[in-house]
Order: sequence, then structure tokens, then C-alpha cells
Amino acid sequence: MKDSGPVVLRPGHAGDLARVCAIEQASFNDPWLPVLLQAELQPDPLRLCLVAEREGTLLAYLMSWHMGERLHLLNIAVEVSVRRTGLGTRLLRAAAVAAARNRLVEMTLEVRRSNAAARGFYRQLGFVETGLRTGYYPNNEEDAVLLSCPVAGLHAAGNPDIRRAPE
Ligand SMILES: CC(C)(COP(=O)(O)OP(=O)(O)OC[C@H]1O[C@@H](n2cnc3c(N)ncnc32)[C@H](O)[C@@H]1OP(=O)(O)O)[C@@H](O)C(=O)NCCC(=O)NCCS
Repeated sequence: MKDSGPVVLRPGHAGDLARVCAIEQASFNDPWLPVLLQAELQPDPLRLCLVAEREGTLLAYLMSWHMGERLHLLNIAVEVSVRRTGLGTRLLRAAAVAAARNRLVEMTLEVRRSNAAARGFYRQLGFVETGLRTGYYPNNEEDAVLLSCPVAGLHAAGNPDIRRAPE
């Protein structure tokens, strides 16, 4: 994996599908089917998909839906070799900037109860647990923890991605 050059964030598009599928496969034991990932890469005013890339190599992605006054996070994953380098945080904060522009007030998501890494990630960003969906995940009936954070709390002053966050 290249490690020089700046990482830039941009909206995802259909041409990203192969790399998104590869990161998805490496990140989850129940990866989304390519057809579902492809749908999230289509232009749609109610979908927000952001990717992070360095020198043309896609390293991470975030997929979300506008749902009323909320931005609901559907999927986020970072290439294994560049985890803990801040890419997940940058994507989430950039999504919050876009959500604020659309006057959304809250970000929500579900996370597997056993996913300690992701729960730690969301906690340090300010998400709080708001509930539990028992047996939510069909592959093993694992519980989902519901998390929520005010958009204003993620839309931090001084975020370097604010100026270049996609409209
Ligand atoms: C969860 C995930 C997106 C985080 O992305 P990331 O780019 O590695 O996260 P960041 O580098 O922005 O981490 C920021 C902070 O979150 C916390 N964090 C991140 N990964 C963590 C881990 N494995 N364990 C504990 N805390 C973690 C830490 O506080 C970290 O700061 P630090 O590295 O200075 O200690 C990434 O681990 C991933 O792709 N996981 C697999 C897919 C997944 O589970 N997605 C979530 C589905 S709900």
C-alpha cells in the first residue's frame, strides 16, 4: 500500500465498486453483496457516500442515508493496513459537515455488540448508546447496539476537511 501523498476525501461513484468490495470483504464476516454496495455508489440526494483515497488508491469508505432529520450510517470500513491513522474519523467528520449543510441534526447507526473496535471508535467521537436491537443481525442473531451523536458535536471547529468536504 502506498503511504506517501495526501489522503483526499470525495464522493463515491460507480467506478469505486471493485475496491469497495475488496475492503468490505476484508473487513466483515458478513460482507454486503456487491449489488448492495453498488446501489450506495449511485448518485442520489438521499444517499451520502464518501471515500478516502491516496494517489488514486481507495483506502476507506462511508455510506449513509438521510432519514428525516438524521443521517443514518449504514457502512464504514478502512483498509486494514491503514487503520488507526485517522481515516475513519475524517470520513465521519466530513459526513457530519455534509449533514449540517443539509440541516440534519443527528447521526445514528447500529453496531454489532461484539465489535469492540468500532464501539471504541464511535465512543471517542462522542456517540452514546441509545438502545439495543436483540438478534438484529441475521447471520448469527447477534444484538445491535444503537448509537447516536448530535451532528453539531461531530462538526468540530478546526476540522481540516471542512473546506473540501463534498457539497
Ligand atoms: C472502525 C473503523 C472504521 C475505524 O477506522 P480507523 O480509521 O481505524 O479509526 P481512526 O484511526 O479514525 O481511530 C480514531 C480513534 O478511534 C478509536 N479506535 C479506532 N480503532 C480502535 C480499535 N481497534 N480499538 C479501540 N479503539 C479504536 C481510538 O480512540 C482511535 O484513536 P487512536 O488511534 O489515537 O487511539 C475501522 O477499524 C474498520 O474499518 N473496522 C472494520 C469495519 C467495521 O467494523 N466498521 C464499523 C461497522 S459499524
